[in-house]
Amino acid sequence: MILAGTTEASRLAKEVSAAKIKAVLSYAGRVERPKPQPLPRRTGGFGGVEGLKKFLRDQSITHVVDSTHPFAVQMSQHAVDACADLNLPLMAFSRPEWKPTSADNWIEVADIPAAVSALKGAKKRIMLALGRMHLQAFEAQPQHRYLLRLVDPPGKDLTLPNCDIVVSRGPFTKDGDLALMRDYNIQLVVCKNSGGVAARAKLDAARELDLPVIMIARPKLDRPRLETASLKKVMQWLGHSGTDLGV
Ligand SMILES: NC(=O)c1ccc[n+]([C@@H]2O[C@H](COP(=O)([O-])OP(=O)(O)OC[C@H]3O[C@@H](n4cnc5c(N)ncnc54)[C@H](OP(=O)(O)O)[C@@H]3O)[C@@H](O)[C@H]2O)c1
Repeated sequence: MILAGTTEASRLAKEVSAAKIKAVLSYAGRVERPKPQPLPRRTGGFGGVEGLKKFLRDQSITHVVDSTHPFAVQMSQHAVDACADLNLPLMAFSRPEWKPTSADNWIEVADIPAAVSALKGAKKRIMLALGRMHLQAFEAQPQHRYLLRLVDPPGKDLTLPNCDIVVSRGPFTKDGDLALMRDYNIQLVVCKNSGGVAARAKLDAARELDLPVIMIARPKLDRPRLETASLKKVMQWLGHSGTDLGV
């Protein structure tokens, strides 16, 4: 089973399908129009660790690849706990985190509450590149004008006042993000250390515009696990040496 919802999961799905490995992709169901995939999918939470264990047993799953977003910490914690209980092999396949260069102006913070606290002070125009899930926390700093970029148009769940919304799924480019930041006169960017190529355009643009970036660190799990950023290593771990897709 591949715990999905990321570009890495989609890359792995393509490779696993080409290698004719029997697999299922699991989605939380947060996105309204998920991308078509070459593997069967199931959608929705499992109901915690016990629900996940039941699913893994019922479906006779032999390997779990956690390819959720690095900030999907609850799902990842459930996966390590369930796999430890069932003695099932688990591998995390995720993108490496971003590192600042000497030209970057990052303020590194531990979590969302720390990012919110770092925004105390006079009104600024801020790009909140966080997705839709943690926006409410920023209501504690209502003096700013926020720019949000969301995959789906916001619904009633968006209660953050004083914001501009751009609906876009990406992939994003440095030139596109430069234009966006200039159009909205952005003075500060807040983002999670997600890693990856497409999402780093905003960091390249912020560097070029000499903007500070509040960078939220990745959450940590309670247990160690196997982890790689290499698709080839995941395929080897699955007992497959790769296909002509190039891994
Ligand atoms: N967090 C982010 O910044 C972010 C960014 C991009 C994409 N995503 C994707 O969005 C999804 C949800 O992320 P999240 O941060 O809300 O997760 P989360 O906080 O770690 O998980 C919350 C609950 O959602 C369910 N869930 C999460 N991922 C699932 C999956 N792949 N398959 C089935 N159930 C799942 C689980 O419910 P039960 O306890 O009931 O099993 C989990 O306990 C993930 O697939 C993730 O890869 C997240």
